[in-house]
Amino acid sequence: MAKKICICGAGTMGNGIAQVSAQSGFSTVLYDLSEEYLAKAKSKIEKDFQNLVDKKKITETEKENDLARLHFTNNINDCKADIVIEAIIEKIEAKENLFGLLSEINSRETIFATNTSSLSVTEIARTIIQPERVIGMHFFNPAPIMKLVEVVNTDYTKEDTTRTIFELARQFGKTPVLCKDKPGFIVNHVARPYYLEALRLIEKGIANFETIDTLMETSGFKMGPFKLMDLIGNDINYAVSCSVYEAMNKPERLKPSAIQEARVSKNELGKKTRKGYYDYNHIGI
Ligand SMILES: NC(=O)c1ccc[n+]([C@@H]2O[C@H](COP(=O)([O-])OP(=O)(O)OC[C@H]3O[C@@H](n4cnc5c(N)ncnc54)[C@H](O)[C@@H]3O)[C@@H](O)[C@H]2O)c1
Repeated sequence: MAKKICICGAGTMGNGIAQVSAQSGFSTVLYDLSEEYLAKAKSKIEKDFQNLVDKKKITETEKENDLARLHFTNNINDCKADIVIEAIIEKIEAKENLFGLLSEINSRETIFATNTSSLSVTEIARTIIQPERVIGMHFFNPAPIMKLVEVVNTDYTKEDTTRTIFELARQFGKTPVLCKDKPGFIVNHVARPYYLEALRLIEKGIANFETIDTLMETSGFKMGPFKLMDLIGNDINYAVSCSVYEAMNKPERLKPSAIQEARVSKNELGKKTRKGYYDYNHIGI
């Protein structure tokens, strides 16, 4: 049974997954190249635990114990664990390179899970010896709140690996569903037009983004597409759009929008840079 979990990447998803892991009783390592991201992740997790104490959902002692289970590091040699969950940038070369390094320092029993939203888990698996211990474990944003986890098997994944990851997802209080390694898995496949059709409307000058968000929220969607893209991160959402488009042989209906590309080149990535479609310094959230 897994005791120690390592999460690679301390950004939007990695810090949330680390929080869930520590809270579920696992000794947890959170690794990132960037000390700045690690410091931000630490203060976000501390703040979230404090909120739980204030709301009387956990006690002060539980908060201290949860924090004590977390170790923040920028040293890859600390990334030795029973299960490694990778949540770094959505670039195949970066993920393959990291998996290569991690497989060298970990035991042959370690399971490697990737939180990729859209890249081929099979391709990532091929970069390591024993690809049967590689699997997709796709959390949703915000990780501490969203219950769904897509567990993505490749043709290599062995049953034991899938079983262990299902068990871990349940220990994290999540609801795992099994998916095949196909572009966008289930959710990002179904949801792609939600963003892209909304972007087409503003490209054609039919409506502005605030109107579209208000309309979708009034019709019952929890978040309009532009608020959701800002929450996800426009860089991540654009990378996912590109990779699903390429993997599906470039169907016109899934063509990424120039508006997404422009947001990324201006570093208007959404909430994480305080500016995306909305200005969060101005809104103050
Ligand atoms: N944002 C979402 O809503 C969402 C949801 C589900 C899955 N994902 C997936 O999770 C992964 C991470 O997304 P995110 O939104 O957290 O990104 P992010 O940009 O918020 O964070 C990425 C982090 O990875 C770090 N990093 C980059 N290269 C690294 C390396 N080689 N080694 C260690 N750390 C490295 C960066 O410093 C940064 O802290 C992506 O694969 C993405 O597709 C994102």
